[in-house]
Amino acid sequence: MTDFANSNKTVKLVFSDGTPSVMLPIYEGTLGPDVIDVTGLYKKTGKFTYDPGYLSTASCESAITYIDGAAGQLLYRGYPIDELAMQCDFLEVCYLLLHGELPTPKQKADFDYLVMHHTMVHEQLEFFLRGFRRDAHPMAVITGMVGAMSAFYPQSANLLDPEQREMAAIQMIAKMPTIVAMAYKYSVGERFVWPKNGLSYASNFMRMLFAIPCEEYVNNPVIDRAVDRLFILHADHEQNASTSTVRLCVSSGTSPFAAIASGVACLWGPQHGGANEAALRMLTDLLAQGGEAKIGEFIEQVKHHEGGRRLMGFGHRVYKSYDPRARIMRTTCHEVLDELGLRDDPLFKLAMTLERIALEDDYFVSRNLYPNVDFYSGIVQKAIGIPVTLFTAIFALARTVGWFAQMNEMINDPTCKLGRPRQLYRGSMLRHVPEMHERL
Ligand code: CMC
Repeated sequence: MTDFANSNKTVKLVFSDGTPSVMLPIYEGTLGPDVIDVTGLYKKTGKFTYDPGYLSTASCESAITYIDGAAGQLLYRGYPIDELAMQCDFLEVCYLLLHGELPTPKQKADFDYLVMHHTMVHEQLEFFLRGFRRDAHPMAVITGMVGAMSAFYPQSANLLDPEQREMAAIQMIAKMPTIVAMAYKYSVGERFVWPKNGLSYASNFMRMLFAIPCEEYVNNPVIDRAVDRLFILHADHEQNASTSTVRLCVSSGTSPFAAIASGVACLWGPQHGGANEAALRMLTDLLAQGGEAKIGEFIEQVKHHEGGRRLMGFGHRVYKSYDPRARIMRTTCHEVLDELGLRDDPLFKLAMTLERIALEDDYFVSRNLYPNVDFYSGIVQKAIGIPVTLFTAIFALARTVGWFAQMNEMINDPTCKLGRPRQLYRGSMLRHVPEMHERL
């Protein structure tokens, strides 16, 4: 942890309302902007800071993931995302995020074995799943199933016990593919396919999704690698909305499974994890309305914010030059379309035309609105045959490890406190409840 006492930079805050000025310490990170420590501000001045959407707020100290939005850089534990995506598999990246270092060959073999031998779920969880409507959105089902894990695995539900927390992480990483695949099979009325532990993490997931009892399932290495890469690219992303939600939940001391369920719930939103689903729906609607012939009209509607319309899968709160994950996913997307012979499919052709037009249009260029990872991951998943409603669930599967890494880091941080933001109150002044007959 940073030795805050040794900070030698300060900032002086001068007030125009007569409040005495204060000096605030400034801390330097190993990379990225300095931060001004405002923790003592309220005590010293009686004032809060105001930052809706946390545009200028660092909510914690972290050593897991670094993003340089201007340079389009993403590092997990210091390693560039493209090197990890090209040279490692997802379970290696999980080990890195959880333990801080890449595994040795022995550590990798042990970790793979551990995860791949916790893939089964409690039989009773199947009956819990059967309580949902078949047409329920998978994210509703998965939020419920993950929350229910606290009830099914109470022996690893104590957040403050490091061994229980470690077991919860392994159980959750191992069982998420099984849970997501079960939710899918249930929605299409097919039999659940139990995990096969000898397969890789991604191959096992593909088999659980697409195998049927009456035929032999043959894994496609190009597809499995694309899915593994998709998992790596989504494994962590610093203090985004769902991770901050998990951290806030953890701060209250809740069960690790309940905290992960809160992350899943937050991820569901279309401005966060739901963007790949929203991007694919946008493409499908555009195709139905006339496809390429209608692109010009559609782009004009987006530019004039008609009906609050946005080009889904474009833009990012942090990446203002290019989303480095998008570059890798774009290459992967082309590999998958080639492998499956889908280059001429109207939907994918439309996506590529939309990408080209938006990249050349001044509205998008001047606002630094580039395709983000969700634009391509939606196309890849659709090409593989994954239903659109499952996209965000797959994102949640991949992000589970990041949420656990952040959870561990937070609990081991001695400065960790119950998260409790304050507010700028603009409601009524004090008033008293009138009698019913006085309320006109
Ligand atoms: N389409 C059209 N215009 C946009 C878009 C878009 N996708 N994104 C931003 N803008 C415009 C916005 O209207 C505004 O224009 P103006 O200055 O004329 O009012 C300007 O760009 C700045 O927008 P903002 O809302 O202040 O930017 P932000 O940084 O708060 O937004 C965002 C980030 C991701 C919410 C937004 O770009 C968006 O809604 N994108 C579409 C949804 C999406 O793809 N989300 C996935 C993000 S990546 C997944 C993840 O990492 O979790």
